[in-house]
Amino acid sequence: MRVVSGIQPTGNLHLGNYLGAIRNWVRMQDELEEANRAQAAAGGSADENQCLFFLADLHAISMPHDPAELRRATLEMAAALVACGIDPDRSILFNQAQVPAHAELQWLLNGTARMGWLNRMTQFKDKSGKNREGASAALFTYPVLQAADVLLYQATHVPVGEDQKQHLELARDIAQKFNNDFASDDAPVFTLPDPITPPDAARIMSLRDGTAKMSKSDPSEMSRINLTDDADTIMKKVKKAKTDAEPLPSEAAGLGGRPEAYNLVSIYGALAGTSIDAVLAEFGGQGFGVFKPALGELMVDVIAPITARFRALLEDREALDAILAKGAAKARERGAPTLAATYEALGLVRG
Ligand code: TYM
Repeated sequence: MRVVSGIQPTGNLHLGNYLGAIRNWVRMQDELEEANRAQAAAGGSADENQCLFFLADLHAISMPHDPAELRRATLEMAAALVACGIDPDRSILFNQAQVPAHAELQWLLNGTARMGWLNRMTQFKDKSGKNREGASAALFTYPVLQAADVLLYQATHVPVGEDQKQHLELARDIAQKFNNDFASDDAPVFTLPDPITPPDAARIMSLRDGTAKMSKSDPSEMSRINLTDDADTIMKKVKKAKTDAEPLPSEAAGLGGRPEAYNLVSIYGALAGTSIDAVLAEFGGQGFGVFKPALGELMVDVIAPITARFRALLEDREALDAILAKGAAKARERGAPTLAATYEALGLVRG
C-alpha cells in the first residue's frame, strides 16, 4: 500500500481539515506501520507500505497570495501536521517546492489531460467565481498537478475529504488514458489511486452556514475552529454557532432539513468517535443551551494538546527545516523511477 495526500499551506489548519483528512492520515500511518512490522516479521521488505504527506505549496500559488505569508504558512502547516501526529520518522513529510518532479510530471501529464475534463471541475468553478477570464491558468490546470502528486509515487490510497474526490477521479482518468496511450497492458506506467474518505467526518460545515463547508477561505473567523484557537475562543465560537430554536431530536432522521444542527451533532460524533445516533441518544430532547457547552468542552479536550505541541514545534525553525529537507530527499528518491518511466514512455530523449 502506498498512501499519498496533501494539504495547501494557506492560513490555519481548521477542524474540517483535521476531522476530514489529517486524523485519517495519522490513522493510516499507524496502520501501515503495523502492516510493515508484520511483513518484516514474515521475512518481507519492511518499508513496502509507505505514507507520503506533503504541503501543496505549488497549489497555493494558483490564487493571489503574499509570498512572505506563504513561506510562513508552509512552516506552520508542517508544524501543525507533526503536532497532529504525523511522525516524520515513519511517514515522508515534505513540501512540493523541494521536489521538482511534481511540476515536471504535471507538464508531462498536461499532454494527456483533456480540456473537457478540466472544464467539469467544480472547484475551478467555485474558486474562479464570476471572474473566469481573470482566474490564473494555474487554477485551471491545478487538478493535473494534483494527479501528478499522487501518480508520481504510484499511490494506491489517497485519504481526502469529500470535496477532493472529483480531483481523484480525474487523476484516475489521466492515469488510465496515459497507460492506454503510451504503455503496454502488462507494464502500465501509473497505478490507479483510490480515494479514501473517512465515513465519520467526510464533510465538516461552516459554523455560520450548515450548507457551506468549513474553509480557510471563508472571511469569517467565526465560521471555523482553528487548531490554534485557545479554549475561550473555541467556547465562544461554538456558543455563537448558528442553530435553530428546536431541541435536538432523538434519532438522526429528525435532523433532516436542519443543516446547522446536523453539522454540530456530526462534529460531536466525529470528535467523540461515536455515531450520530449515539450522540442523539445522549442529547435527544435537549436544547442547544446544554449541547453547545458539551460540544465546546469536547473540542477543547481534543484540540488543546495539539495546540501545545504546535507552539513548541514552531519555536525551533531549524528542526522544521530539517524535517522538510529530509522528507524531500526521500520523496525525490521515491518519485525518480516513475518520472524517468514517464519521459521514456513519451519518447522524450534525455541522453
Ligand atoms: P485542502 O488544502 O483544501 O484540504 C486538505 C484536506 O482537508 C479536507 N478538507 C475537509 N474535509 C472535511 N470537511 C471540510 N470542511 C474540509 N476542508 C478541507 C480536504 O478534502 C483535503 O483532503 N487540492 C487539495 C490538496 C492536494 C491534494 C493533492 C490532496 C494537492 N494535491 C494530492 C490529495 C492528493 C486541497 O486543496 O486540499
